[in-house]
Amino acid sequence: MILIFATHNAKKLIEAQRILPTSVVIKSLVDVAYDQEIIENADTFEGNATLKTDAIFSVFGEACFADDSGLVVPSLNGLPGVKSARYASDSMPVDHQANNDKLLRALKNESDRSAYFISVVCLKLPNQTELYFEGRVTGRISVSPQGDMGFGYDPVFIPDGHTQTFAELGPAVKNQISHRARALNQMSAFLLSQI
Ligand code: IMP
Repeated sequence: MILIFATHNAKKLIEAQRILPTSVVIKSLVDVAYDQEIIENADTFEGNATLKTDAIFSVFGEACFADDSGLVVPSLNGLPGVKSARYASDSMPVDHQANNDKLLRALKNESDRSAYFISVVCLKLPNQTELYFEGRVTGRISVSPQGDMGFGYDPVFIPDGHTQTFAELGPAVKNQISHRARALNQMSAFLLSQI
C-alpha cells in the first residue's frame, strides 16, 4: 500500500515511518514533488487536516493522509490552539522562540498551567472516504524553556508523569507518548485491519 503524507516536514515523515506498518510505503510531498503551499485557514484541527488531504487528493487521486496539531492551554481559553504555529506572528518560517516567549508571558501570573498537545490525522482513501484519528498528550507548561531537542513548544511542555520538558526528554520518550504518535498508532491499527 502506498500513502502520500501531506507534509514537507522530514521529522514528521520519519516519525510516521517508524509507527506505520512496514507494508505501508509513505511518500512525503517532497517525494511527489509537490511544492505548493496549502493555506491552513480552517478554525479546527479536523478542518485543517481535511484541507491538506483534499488538496493532495485533488492533484494525485491517491490515498493520502495529513495531520494538524497544536498546543491547547485551557486557562488561555484554548490558545494557542489551531493558531499554534502563528501564535506570536505570521512570519515564515515559524518563529518558535517568539511563540514560547509569548506563551510564558501570557501564563506569568496564572496558577493553572495545564496544557495538552493534540494531533488530528485525516486519512483519505481512494474511494474518497475520510477517516479521522485523534491523539492527545496532557501535561503542563514550564516556567522557563528547558532543553534543546525537538521543535515548537517542546522546550516548555512537561508531559504528565515526567519532570522534564519534551525538549529535554528527547525523541525516544516523546515518540512513545506524543499526540502524533497516538493518532498515528490508531491509523496504523486501522490500516493493519484492512491489509
Ligand atoms: P502543524 O500541525 O505542523 O501545522 O503544527 C502546528 C504547530 O503546533 C507547530 O508549528 C508547533 O508550534 C506546534 N506543535 C505541533 N506539534 C508539536 C510538537 O510535537 N512539539 C512542539 N510543538 C508542536
